[in-house]
Amino acid sequence: MNASTYSQDPARIPAQQGLLSGKVALVLGGSRGIGAASARALARAGARVVVAARDERGLGEVAESIRASGGEALPVRTDIRDAAQVKALIDQTVSVYGRLDAAFNNAGSGHRPAPFSELTVEDIDESISVNLRGILVAMKLELAAMLARGGGSIINMSSTAGLSGVRGMGAYSATKHAIIGASKSAALDHASQKIRVNVVAPGPILTDRIRDLPEERRAPIVRAVPMERIGLPEEVAATVVWLCSDAASFITGAVLPIDGGRLAGGA
Ligand SMILES: NC(=O)c1ccc[n+]([C@@H]2O[C@H](COP(=O)([O-])OP(=O)(O)OC[C@H]3O[C@@H](n4cnc5c(N)ncnc54)[C@H](OP(=O)(O)O)[C@@H]3O)[C@@H](O)[C@H]2O)c1
Repeated sequence: MNASTYSQDPARIPAQQGLLSGKVALVLGGSRGIGAASARALARAGARVVVAARDERGLGEVAESIRASGGEALPVRTDIRDAAQVKALIDQTVSVYGRLDAAFNNAGSGHRPAPFSELTVEDIDESISVNLRGILVAMKLELAAMLARGGGSIINMSSTAGLSGVRGMGAYSATKHAIIGASKSAALDHASQKIRVNVVAPGPILTDRIRDLPEERRAPIVRAVPMERIGLPEEVAATVVWLCSDAASFITGAVLPIDGGRLAGGA
């Protein structure tokens, strides 16, 4: 692997201690990757964190690592495709912690790359049910919980594939575009009610899918990034913490690329 691929050291990302003291944050899709890094960063910033996904073992490891660092975490097994499970998750969050201040809707599912004509109906359904329907239902229920407490911050996960087309990823890209429209609309609906809704749109980030690629597939991904490296989950997590916090108190309806400059040169 090219040394520059890893040239950022997660330990050099400044701690955001105290930024979320007293807050309760939910990470949907927190069992690994960007979601797990975000759950840890939210906890380091002082939030009590509910981590949800399907993989109980992954959730348990994330919660344990948060507790080992002195934080508080509650793992809740949840399939975002099942609205009843998402409702139970939010009800449990409010009943255990009494409130929901911030939610990071990160759960996402890709499909194997294929020209659009060769996508299966299952590829299309999986992208829509997780990346779009699941997140819309979660956001609706989170908004209700936040309205009951008088405010909050929601961050929805999109991608640079939500701001430009990507060959072979048509169904995924469609849902990542759609989540931006839903988030901007929700931001408008609830702007006067002290709820902010924002979107993060990462470029390539070093989680399992990219880590497992052979060097010849990873090299062109790195070359397409002006900063000439793949981003780290911790770099997305730091942005999520900031957007959750009052440090971003006048920001709503925004879409923030976290892409090493990838989109600056045009989609
Ligand atoms: N890595 C990148 O380069 C990149 C770039 C742009 C955007 N993104 C987006 O960032 C998000 C996280 O990506 P990642 O790379 O960290 O991926 P990942 O390692 O595959 O993590 C995906 C997360 O989503 C959860 N999830 C998937 N299906 C779910 C379901 N039905 N119900 C509940 N949770 C579910 C997974 O948990 P379980 O499997 O345990 O349920 C896991 O926690 C995704 O939305 C992805 O599209 C990633």
